[in-house]
Amino acid sequence: MDQRRPLIAGNWKMNGLVADGVALAEALVERSRRHPGLPPDAAAEVPPDVPAALPCDVLVCPPFTLVDRVLQTVSGTKIAVGGQDCHAEASGARTGDVSAEMLKDLGCRYVIVGHSERRADHGEDDRTVRLKAEAALRAGLIAIVCVGETEAERDAGQTEAVVARQIAGSVPAAATPETVVVAYEPVWAIGTGKTATPAEAQAVHARIRAELNALLGSDAAARMRILYGGSVKPGNAAELLGQPDIDGALVGGASLKAEDFWGIVGAAK
Ligand code: PGA
Repeated sequence: MDQRRPLIAGNWKMNGLVADGVALAEALVERSRRHPGLPPDAAAEVPPDVPAALPCDVLVCPPFTLVDRVLQTVSGTKIAVGGQDCHAEASGARTGDVSAEMLKDLGCRYVIVGHSERRADHGEDDRTVRLKAEAALRAGLIAIVCVGETEAERDAGQTEAVVARQIAGSVPAAATPETVVVAYEPVWAIGTGKTATPAEAQAVHARIRAELNALLGSDAAARMRILYGGSVKPGNAAELLGQPDIDGALVGGASLKAEDFWGIVGAAK
């Protein structure tokens, strides 16, 4: 764990008009300027031109319409911005799509690929997800590659087999700990208020690390971050993040409230 700096990533999904997104980003900036460990209303602040050291890497992934405004709002802070998806190609006749190059050009550092909502709503399979992750790497973005089993697969006892297959099919061969982050998000835990117990999540994370070991070698597997996602909240974050193979969180609902998201950031120590 020591060799892996935690990453707390907010996935805003399809939420927020401009005023909401800017207000949320401003509230996060305000918190990021305070010394970590102090309560949000503490008086002692670092000067605005000196970004406070954060306990972990912090990322927000707004909808495409808000990316540029959020980048402007967090400029000069340690908060990174990413996209929620990208196309596998750099440009062309792809109506409605956005490329990794376009996100990089704006100033994004990350992009989420293969979120279960993309896999389910847009028919993305492992190969599609891998091509998107490869596009992210080509563009110089860090790809957050999502995997996770459905409730039916879980009930059938297939969790580890499904996740292993998704890792083998979705993670680029060229992945390194600097260019790829894996996110394990059990589909049944997303937006439902249900979470895997810390022990259940740890067992799957360990299985994912073993699969990364087979795919990329032991050094890369040992250093690659594996995030947990699915109803992460300030109240359950510390216990989940305390597991040896859980290196951060991908947060949906709770990332839409600055206080909750920052509570999760504070739990990543
Ligand atoms: P949730 O979403 O935190 O609202 O469960 C997580 C995700 O889908 O990334």
